[in-house]
Amino acid sequence: MRYDVPPDLKGGHMKSFAFSTIKGGVGKTTLSIHTASAFADAGRSVLFIDLDPQAHGSLALGLEPAERPCVGDTFGPRAKHTLKDVVVRSEKRENLFIAPAVLRMAAMERDLYHWGYRLEALSRSLDTLGWQPDVVVIDTPPSIGPYTEAVMHFVDVLVAPVPTGAYALQGLTEISNTWKQVRERGGQLVVAVNMWDRRTSATNEAMEQALSEITFPVLKTRIPRSEAINQAGLAYEVVFDTARTANGADELKGLAKELAKVAGVPSPVRRRTTGTKRGASAFAAP
Ligand SMILES: Nc1ncnc2c1ncn2[C@@H]1O[C@H](COP(=O)(O)OP(=O)(O)OP(=O)(O)O)[C@@H](O)[C@H]1O
Ligand SMILES: [Mg+2]
Repeated sequence: MRYDVPPDLKGGHMKSFAFSTIKGGVGKTTLSIHTASAFADAGRSVLFIDLDPQAHGSLALGLEPAERPCVGDTFGPRAKHTLKDVVVRSEKRENLFIAPAVLRMAAMERDLYHWGYRLEALSRSLDTLGWQPDVVVIDTPPSIGPYTEAVMHFVDVLVAPVPTGAYALQGLTEISNTWKQVRERGGQLVVAVNMWDRRTSATNEAMEQALSEITFPVLKTRIPRSEAINQAGLAYEVVFDTARTANGADELKGLAKELAKVAGVPSPVRRRTTGTKRGASAFAAP
């Protein structure tokens, strides 16, 4: 085992959030790494599961590019590793744990098509972790293959980020149809607006009209288009660590707070020593 999980981080009320669209470059990774970091800063034990073989989320949360055991190795009839074997602890946030992706997961995904348990891949993998985080946050590839299907089958809240602009809602119908087919019970599908720009009034008017026609909930929090968020992404960092008062940082915290309410995440346990007081109070019970 590569880390020790303190007994008071072992959770027990696990809630899970995933970010998924078939449209690329809309903010799945950006929103997922900031949601994971915000929950960790609020004192919760968080497991970030990177299911995108591009591995941008793993890198942005501080892992060096390297060939290593990955979350894909915990799936399939001949899984090579338990989840406990592949999870690493963040060096920046002691209650944030990362189940990393690596590029070879792109080819490994094909092997899952013929696996009878592929929809249960994530719950079976989590059974091999040996403890329960408070919060699981999952990043997915821009596609609906076995990884995304397994996520949809498992997750409590599926967030589809939509960018502000042309083709914003492209692919949402496909996500929603697959969600309905794959879900056996419960769960919620919600839309999160990203790259919102108050100045582009004509675009925003068209966007409001399009959003009003979506048949599932649109989160109130809108993440602005922010140079600080983009710069943090270029540096493989989260904006809370590079420019915590910059445009967009509060909204990213607000997104995690709103998601906590949607899923009914209990407020953090006070005795935990990790996370800042400011962050923890932002997550006071809804
Ligand atoms: N609110 C924002 N403001 C400014 N830049 C943003 C914002 N959200 C995301 N970006 C930038 O847009 C680019 C795409 O974002 P991101 O990688 O999160 O998208 P993605 O949906 O995960 O992409 P992919 O489909 O390739 O996985 C990145 O360079 C990121 O830094
Ligand atoms: Mg991504």
